[in-house]
Amino acid sequence: MSFDIEQLRGDFPILHQQVYDRPLAYLDNAATTQKPKAVIDAVRHYYERDNANVHRGVHALSERATAAYEAAREKLRALVNAASSHEIIFTRGATEAINLVASSWGNTHIGAGDEVLVSEMEHHSDIVPWQMLCERVGATLKVLPINDAGELCMEQLDDLLNERTKLVGIVHLSNALGTINPVADIITKAHAVGARVLVDGAQAVAHMAVDVQALDCDFYVTSAHKMYGPTGIGLLYGKETLLEVMPPYQGGGDMITMVTFEETQYNELPYKFEAGTPNIAGTIGFGAAVDWLNDNGIANIAAHEQSLLAYAIGQAEAFDGLRIIGTAASKATVLSFTLQGVHPHDLGTILDREGIAIRAGHHCAMPVMQHFGVPATARASFAAYNTKAEIDALFEALGRARDLFA
Ligand code: ALA
Repeated sequence: MSFDIEQLRGDFPILHQQVYDRPLAYLDNAATTQKPKAVIDAVRHYYERDNANVHRGVHALSERATAAYEAAREKLRALVNAASSHEIIFTRGATEAINLVASSWGNTHIGAGDEVLVSEMEHHSDIVPWQMLCERVGATLKVLPINDAGELCMEQLDDLLNERTKLVGIVHLSNALGTINPVADIITKAHAVGARVLVDGAQAVAHMAVDVQALDCDFYVTSAHKMYGPTGIGLLYGKETLLEVMPPYQGGGDMITMVTFEETQYNELPYKFEAGTPNIAGTIGFGAAVDWLNDNGIANIAAHEQSLLAYAIGQAEAFDGLRIIGTAASKATVLSFTLQGVHPHDLGTILDREGIAIRAGHHCAMPVMQHFGVPATARASFAAYNTKAEIDALFEALGRARDLFA
């Protein structure tokens, strides 16, 4: 399996454009990745040739749509190494997957006096649903702090875990800091006190191999659009034994086997959690994104991105006035930073005029900003198709921004 960056960039039509008369350097991949032609073609093929509802029709188009939809489920199962495709639930994204668990599992397994533990580096989507659950049932939200490198204070984990801890929500790869967390250790320790663990893998799956059985996590969530797939589709992995006894999240078509006004019987897994007509085109595109990742090799992509990140960090460390936010020993894809005298939003706008797309803001991780005492950071985040030339362009533009504000 070869990794030819020019050939790989050829898969992405959107990259080959000028923005403000400058070649686009798309460095906002933690917000969303671009889509290869294979994904766009898969979605178009579905609408042009196979468009029909799934699991319902007896006609050819419905059979083809159903086969493609279920094939995508099997591709996702294999990608994260789930034991069964019954454990792969399609959702609107990682956020909906966490809300599903917080509502369905949380409402039935967490009560007054219980505790939910999250980390200080969680995305809002792995804080707010738990906060809402705690308010509903009278439980307490606990927080595992981070240090100034943006790493979890693992030495405090044992003190925070106890027999009241029912659920640990932990991000695999932080969108704001790039930190890769030792989730396997956290899962082992959480299980020792009887807690379940949900891993937020929204950023992780496109950047590293994920094996849910090796991790032994109870739930794992991700979003297709951060792994070269369409928006509006993601997945919840859950252990079958847990999903089996969880009540449905939403009621409607496809999640039932029998309905009367007196009683409804629910469908088997995974359909029990997929009420209504699903995002069929998005799911098929998600499957095509998995094929694209496998064709290029997650290990190859990770190695390429690590070399980009090391190159960018080298330039950042030598850049006067630049402060890197997030210097964990184990990190990937994300360079968050501030530049003395220039607000991150101004920086984002100046870079945009040079064709360089980064994100500026709190990255939906306000507690991380509070920890570092900044309102926002500028963030460059790398994907398989980025190049060192784009990082050079970023730092040349940063130099001009610094001069402008000097
Ligand atoms: N969570 C996405 C980001 O980090 C939107 O930009």
